[in-house]
Amino acid sequence: MTRVAFVTGGTRGIGRAIVERLKSDGMKVAAGYSGNDAAAAACAKELGVMVVKGNVGSFDDCARAVAEVGAELGPIDVLVNNAGITRDGVFHRMTADQWSDVIRVNMDSLFNMTRQVIEGMREREWGRIINISSINGQKGQAGQTNYSAAKAGLIGFTKALALENAKKGITVNAIAPGYIDTEMVQAVPEKVLEAIVGQIPVGRLGRGDEIADMVAFLAGEQAGYVTGSTLSLNGGQYMA
Ligand code: CAA
Repeated sequence: MTRVAFVTGGTRGIGRAIVERLKSDGMKVAAGYSGNDAAAAACAKELGVMVVKGNVGSFDDCARAVAEVGAELGPIDVLVNNAGITRDGVFHRMTADQWSDVIRVNMDSLFNMTRQVIEGMREREWGRIINISSINGQKGQAGQTNYSAAKAGLIGFTKALALENAKKGITVNAIAPGYIDTEMVQAVPEKVLEAIVGQIPVGRLGRGDEIADMVAFLAGEQAGYVTGSTLSLNGGQYMA
């Protein structure tokens, strides 16, 4: 059976690696994105997947995006809530916008996207929901009270939703990547990033395809007994 997957933030970074992997596993895949049309066009062309524009912070955008994917590829079986942003800054100088932008995109998106697909998954009695958290939701990170709050909240959401849907063939899991070599991490000041890499026992940044491998496992038929889990992939930087 060909499964349909939707990966938010799927045209760049970790999301794109996930899209590529699920496509090569034989799924029909759509990649969501919000602003970078050039990256989306490249993703569509190079990977041969559907791309859908919309803001995951908007319930209405998510409803429209899910309807478009449903019309073109069929009902969504696998949802990867990957889209995320940073607005780093120490809390004593953080603005209300820095706070709310991150909460809206990284946390409200969980409701906005998942609410669109959960009823269909329950009716069909099969589904995979994979939420991308972060090491910084597990351990905290100076400069990221907003991001750490959202990524920790995501873990609570994952566990509660897993409980509600365990008897319906739907698994809900979180992955907590460490520092992965993406544009988001490259935006960290060079000196700060050097110090962070020094704290990673494996001695390097992670790669998107390493996260994608874990997503592919959780998305597969074989992973039906894994639910409510948070899987850490961080080169040993934090052992939760
Ligand atoms: N621990 C405690 N305090 C710290 C600190 C740390 N590690 N780093 C900075 N501070 C404090 C400083 O002491 C200073 O305090 P005062 O205001 O009392 O003097 C204050 O923070 C401001 O410091 P600076 O002026 O040096 O720096 P800044 O305001 O320009 O930036 C920062 C501070 C935002 C924390 C910056 O160091 C930074 O960007 N750090 C990296 C944050 C990070 O790891 N982000 C991850 C992005 S990638 C990602 O999010 C993906 C993922 O999931 C892993």
